[in-house]
Amino acid sequence: MSAHNERPVLEVEDLSVAFHDRGGELVAVRGVSFAVAPGETLALVGESGCGKSLTAYALLGLLPANARARGRVRLEGRDILGLEGEAMRRLRGARIAMIFQEPMTALNPVLTVGAQIVEAIREHEAVSRAEARARALALLARVRIPDPERRFGEYPHRLSGGMRQRVMIAMALACTPAVLIADEPTTALDVTVQAEILDLLDDLRCETGMAVVLITHDLGLVAEHADRVSVMYAGRVVETRSAETLIAAPLHPYTRGLLAARPRLGTGPRRRLAEIPGQVPLLGAMPPGCAFAPRCPFAALPCRETLPSLDAAGSAAGRVACLRWNEIRASEQSAAPLGA
Ligand SMILES: Nc1ncnc2c1ncn2[C@@H]1O[C@H](COP(=O)(O)OP(=O)(O)O)[C@@H](O)[C@H]1O
Ligand SMILES: [Mg+2]
Repeated sequence: MSAHNERPVLEVEDLSVAFHDRGGELVAVRGVSFAVAPGETLALVGESGCGKSLTAYALLGLLPANARARGRVRLEGRDILGLEGEAMRRLRGARIAMIFQEPMTALNPVLTVGAQIVEAIREHEAVSRAEARARALALLARVRIPDPERRFGEYPHRLSGGMRQRVMIAMALACTPAVLIADEPTTALDVTVQAEILDLLDDLRCETGMAVVLITHDLGLVAEHADRVSVMYAGRVVETRSAETLIAAPLHPYTRGLLAARPRLGTGPRRRLAEIPGQVPLLGAMPPGCAFAPRCPFAALPCRETLPSLDAAGSAAGRVACLRWNEIRASEQSAAPLGA
């Protein structure tokens, strides 16, 4: 983690994603904005179903056929939302790449891992087979796969989950993208392997200067692996701040709930300390005010009527979408014991 004053490589402004079905329009992502600078990691965090993956798919032009994205996405200064066919394919994999939760679904089971990496390179660059092969071997070594020569000729099912994820990372890095989107890259892995993969991503980010968007439902990963965090709830960003300040003093009641429900690492069994009571609202049944109000222990009448905007809050560049964040914080401070 480091300081970033460079111009963002990826800028997302007011991104929305809607599904068009017989019944009409279902909006799953609602006005999401964020930006990531070279060498920076932004974590997108939220419970399952809050719109993290759809946000990622919209950036890469991979939305399902019945979904439409609106808003603005700029990659290296260029508008890319709505690019289609060849134009999008040229960027995807080359300037913006993605790794997925379950590498087995993204890898081709009938091709050796070496052949797949070679293909990923040759799709974007006019290099000879021999040169692509040499680069693929170097990539396998770079993602710390032992004995790359042997692994090159193996099929994905012969590898462990962690090794498959390393292969996915090698493929994603094949053309040194400016932005890497990692969608729950370690959810299917055990805790030790998870830590190794996230450390590997951190190292590769530092070496290459790529920007990383780390998508996760686990706020526990954020302190160590992200510079900034945007917390999503029901398709919106509800809080966005530096990882350090957000973990130390969350402002939005939803972020507070997520932190309290975070599984603790340690010697004992991993267990949830507390679940956030209630359920995420259905897409077709969003409450009129704050979408979190029905589950929020701090909700008051205005929360159920007025949609809070994402306003400046707390420390520099922090934003929170809660009508009562300041009041809640003030009541905590006055309840705290006085004196040092
Ligand atoms: N193909 C689809 N058709 C209709 N709704 C969908 C489709 N894909 C996802 N959704 C809905 O969009 C919402 C966001 O999904 P997603 O982005 O996958 O969430 P996350 O990645 O945060 O778990 C969910 O409510 C999900 O049910
Ligand atoms: Mg997802």
